[in-house]
Amino acid sequence: MDHFLYRDGILHAEDVPLPEIAAEVGTPFYCYSVATLTRHFRLFDEALAGTDHLVCYAVKANSNLAVLKLMGDLGAGVDVVSGGEYRRAIAAGIPGERVVFSGVGKTREEMRLALQGGIRQFNVESEPEMAALNEVALSLGVVAPIAVRVNPDVDAQTHEKIATGKSENKFGIPIARAREVYAHAAALPGLDVVGIDVHIGSQLTSLEPFEAAYTKVGDLCRMLRADGHDIRRLDLGGGLGIPYEGRSNSRPPLPVEYGHMIQRVLGDLDCEIEIEPGRLIAGNAGILVTRVIYVKEGEGRTFLIVDAAMNDLVRPAMYSAHHDIVPVVEPTPDTVEGPYDIVGPVCETGDTFAKARPMPPLAEGDLVAFRSAGAYGAVMASEYNTRPLIPEVLVSGDHVAVIRGRPSFDDILNRDTIPEWL
Ligand code: LLP
Repeated sequence: MDHFLYRDGILHAEDVPLPEIAAEVGTPFYCYSVATLTRHFRLFDEALAGTDHLVCYAVKANSNLAVLKLMGDLGAGVDVVSGGEYRRAIAAGIPGERVVFSGVGKTREEMRLALQGGIRQFNVESEPEMAALNEVALSLGVVAPIAVRVNPDVDAQTHEKIATGKSENKFGIPIARAREVYAHAAALPGLDVVGIDVHIGSQLTSLEPFEAAYTKVGDLCRMLRADGHDIRRLDLGGGLGIPYEGRSNSRPPLPVEYGHMIQRVLGDLDCEIEIEPGRLIAGNAGILVTRVIYVKEGEGRTFLIVDAAMNDLVRPAMYSAHHDIVPVVEPTPDTVEGPYDIVGPVCETGDTFAKARPMPPLAEGDLVAFRSAGAYGAVMASEYNTRPLIPEVLVSGDHVAVIRGRPSFDDILNRDTIPEWL
């Protein structure tokens, strides 16, 4: 459930009609709902009630400082994957002790930043990384808490570009080598081994692969404890999928079902549980609002050319992802026209949001909204074709705030320098 509903025939973000925001900030823009973000965070938090746990929101899904501040105020920890994301978390007021640092390529500089600013744990993904972290920690006179990310060789049954838990993927250490790697970690004086980490992919629509991976993690935990390691934390990653197609009857499992499975599979280990959801918290808490520039009759098809493009929302071009697209003025029932090919102004055929999509009749100047755009939307945007990054707006009840403004063309041009010798 989200808080983008039609009221009096107009699509609202909570209590605010979207045309009002469009008039204020111009199009295209992203719009996020505080009530939806809050609700989704709580669903996870409640799903693990009764178990010692921390929900570490995956910053990569939507890293706007206002979103992070909201998460922090709700009690969330965060999962970061770069020095930049770490800085965002701290700037949003999240204490370092609630920050988990993941990623296969952490630099020594990033390690230093987190060790000095405070960190809950590094999720270490290789032996060379382990050696580097040990060195950096010793040079600072501190001990780095770590979990080792294991690769359980489980097929997440999702898009191949976002599956991370198969042995051929770059992530984690092969689970078969885990005992050896943990023994090595325990011998390094700059590291404190606190747990095990796993993340098998994103947009998973069934619990099965999770359960397969978590069962392997549970077995490994018992084995490592028998080897003398004090494993007290299990980081289970993110990945629970969201329904992108409102019309479809199939829906991914709910957080409560996910939580029950975790407790069933791992509850007897008496470990603190961490999870790192991103998409499920932010995805359906955001929409992208765009305006129809032209309706163009092509050869045997009609193009709806909108003012958002692949640089603003790259998921359809990059993963052939589906986003529901709805008019901001509520259509009268059963007035399906088209179908339309919905495209942006960028000079690539890949700049296509939807092909042959049935839609109600639309005309130049009409507003449409892309649903499920709150995660991996604004964060993946670029200024390709020198199109300024689009604004982000946050709504709570009848409050509206621009949480990232649209840069001016001067801002953009002034970032480049022409050398004087040219
Ligand atoms: N933890 C780790 C270590 C991750 O790599 C990810 C996502 C998450 C947590 C959060 O996963 P989530 O709950 O959001 O599924 N750009 C792609 C998604 C890439 C996900 C990368 N890792 C997309 O637009 O579909």
